[in-house]
Amino acid sequence: MARHLITSAIPYINGIKHLGNLVGSQLPADLFARYQRGRGHEVLFLCATDEHGTPAELAAAKAGQPVADYCAEMHAVQADIAQGFGLSFDHFGRSSSPANHALTQHFAGKLAERDLIREVSETQMYSHADGRFLPDRYIEGTCPNCGFDSARGDQCDNCTKQLDPVELINPRSVISGSTDLEMRATKHLYLRQSTMKDQLEAWIDSKTDWPVLTTSIAKKWLNDGDGLQDRGITRDLDWGIPVKRGQEDWPGMEGKVFYVWFDAPIEYIACAQEWVEAGKGQDWQRWWRTDMGAQDVTYTQFMGKDNVPFHTLSFPATILGSGEPWKLVDYIKSFNYLNYDGGQFSTSRGRGVFMDQALEILPADYWRWWLLSHAPESSDAEFTWDNFQASVNKDLADVLGNFVSRITKFCRSKFGETVPEGGSWGAQEAALMAELGQRLRAYEGHMEAMEVRKSAQELRAIWVAGNEYLQSAAPWSTFKENPEQAAAQVRMGLNLVRLYAVLSAPFIPFAADRLLEAMKCDDRSWPGDMQTALSALPVGHGFEVPEVLFAKITDEQREEWQARFAGQRS
Ligand code: MF3
Ligand code: ZN
Repeated sequence: MARHLITSAIPYINGIKHLGNLVGSQLPADLFARYQRGRGHEVLFLCATDEHGTPAELAAAKAGQPVADYCAEMHAVQADIAQGFGLSFDHFGRSSSPANHALTQHFAGKLAERDLIREVSETQMYSHADGRFLPDRYIEGTCPNCGFDSARGDQCDNCTKQLDPVELINPRSVISGSTDLEMRATKHLYLRQSTMKDQLEAWIDSKTDWPVLTTSIAKKWLNDGDGLQDRGITRDLDWGIPVKRGQEDWPGMEGKVFYVWFDAPIEYIACAQEWVEAGKGQDWQRWWRTDMGAQDVTYTQFMGKDNVPFHTLSFPATILGSGEPWKLVDYIKSFNYLNYDGGQFSTSRGRGVFMDQALEILPADYWRWWLLSHAPESSDAEFTWDNFQASVNKDLADVLGNFVSRITKFCRSKFGETVPEGGSWGAQEAALMAELGQRLRAYEGHMEAMEVRKSAQELRAIWVAGNEYLQSAAPWSTFKENPEQAAAQVRMGLNLVRLYAVLSAPFIPFAADRLLEAMKCDDRSWPGDMQTALSALPVGHGFEVPEVLFAKITDEQREEWQARFAGQRS
């Protein structure tokens, strides 16, 4: 049994995420976690809300709430929606937890001890209209790299370049819109990651199996221009983790907090501590300390491409720089963007479908299937309602749903609701089992490699193989001449339903549960040998015809939803 630590990029607390966010991190991470559990491995799957920084402050201000209250409320909302989507986190933590406060301060202390933090006296944008220093995200302007006119002070969303606010052309305050900004003296801490460039580069170069998307972004920031730059890790904000060295005050840093991108990835570790505090687990060190068991762990991270620099460079710099035996990531699976119907998803403009809305109109599995089977892996992908309707109707309703309904209903009508006796399997069944065996190995290969689209295609092909078998075996015809043989064919069909439930569970867990319930079976064991796997439901085993598994999306629904989600989120 292997041990898999799996983390999804932790979503910002400010508001409900859209489907593009979901498919870029949490959903594929869940797919992988469910698959590894299905294979019998030990999995710790962690996610949390990313609660610090200006997005949280701004959103709380807009909601007219104290930021701590706002975060507590939104955490509960996001946890609820995650559950609705079947995201099977072992724990859904909070980056504002006491555990993360302590651990973040601990890392800062270690880094300072090892001379990897320097204090920098600098000038910072001060806004007269707002009466305060403006942190990065409170400043917007034109990107010096690509010319995008709404680049933020920390990063350009258009070209992904990490920025310093002073680099922006025509900067303005996000709070007031004021351009009456002045540079004033202040002091901040910098992580000296430039001194770790060679170490980081050697580490990334050793990861020859990583997706090109991951390594190309990492290499770009390692070697672009002047190479890897030191990063400021403190900010002038009220909300956040107070700057300390371990438990000690840091002279000159009073009133400042750590930069959100410093403490957020540390929450991956703190989250395991929260998991223990919540009584769900025993030993977090076993997952995170290579001197305490984590040397046997395989650690995989999932994220959108804009998160790659922080996970390939900044966070590893924190880990390596501490000099302590923390677990480093083994594999980083990153995703391109999902676009929405001819444009971008936009949280600020409410364009596209958000997770809560998605669940209001259709069950989670419809979304999970479409999103995963169209995951933006090799390039950006696009959600269109036509494509969504077509995939759901074909893959889920026609192929899988129809198969289940035909075989269970036919059996009920001729043999009753038990697995029928008689006949035996012949050449046709042997050919089917050979094909399924081969496809299953391909499916496993793609799942191990986290090739999400290819996995979905292979799973679909496995469903299709059953349909084709049923079509050509045609037990409804066989029955007239040879009821015994028809019984054997039906036994195959019913066992395929169980097999499909087990294999499909990582993609469509709710439907898989319903299938297993209908088949009155809790044998979820992953198939090895096909003959055995397809004999799990023995002669005489009772079942029920399930309710319609997947309803087709009508043209009227499609048109209505397309109009509803085109514009402003209400
Ligand atoms: N909140 C960030 C985002 O949504 C992701 C943070 S990932 C972590 O882009 F590593 F910092 F935790
Ligand atoms: Zn740019």
